[in-house]
Amino acid sequence: MKQANRERGAVLWFTGLSGSGKTTIAHEVEEKLLEAGVPVEILDGDVVRENLSKGLGFSEEDRNTNIRRIAFVAHLLQRNGVFVITAAISPYKAIRDEARAMIKDFVEIYADAPLEVCESRDVKGLYAKARAGEIKGFTGIDDPYEAPDNAEVVCKTETETVQESAQKVIDKLVELKYLEA
Ligand code: ADX
Repeated sequence: MKQANRERGAVLWFTGLSGSGKTTIAHEVEEKLLEAGVPVEILDGDVVRENLSKGLGFSEEDRNTNIRRIAFVAHLLQRNGVFVITAAISPYKAIRDEARAMIKDFVEIYADAPLEVCESRDVKGLYAKARAGEIKGFTGIDDPYEAPDNAEVVCKTETETVQESAQKVIDKLVELKYLEA
């Protein structure tokens, strides 16, 4: 497997609730792309918020600022042939569509797991805090998550393995001719 066109990367835009599996699948996809010798960069929500978006909160305005920054950097890399994987909740449809319109080579991947499943995983212990009222405006609890209706790939992370989800993403990149077998 190799990159179809060295000049043309793509942005693999993950969206989904906290704990839905975005970061886990993102790293599996990264590994597969690196094995294929394709340049890859991950812009993970938690990492971006420690650096590029340090100081931003979780109001709608701050989340949108965060997403616009991620989209901007992702686009700079993508147009230089890099496969960029973003993994932020990106809860608002309008801003994801704005990113899609700007980037064009945009592949949306919905890490789709029911809230109860994400909450029972509670990897970071934040759902418990949100339920206890210690965190306000937590996505899925007392802040909205607008699921995509036009995602190129839907990963049902409750029932699929990480491998299966990652392979679906790779298969879509072949189908869309970003990669060739
Ligand atoms: S986004 O809404 O702007 O796309 P992003 O993915 O960067 O969110 O950050 C989400 C991460 O921040 C969560 O996985 C969680 O660890 C942490 N977090 C802290 N407060 C909140 C909150 N109110 N809502 C969602 N996530 C939060």
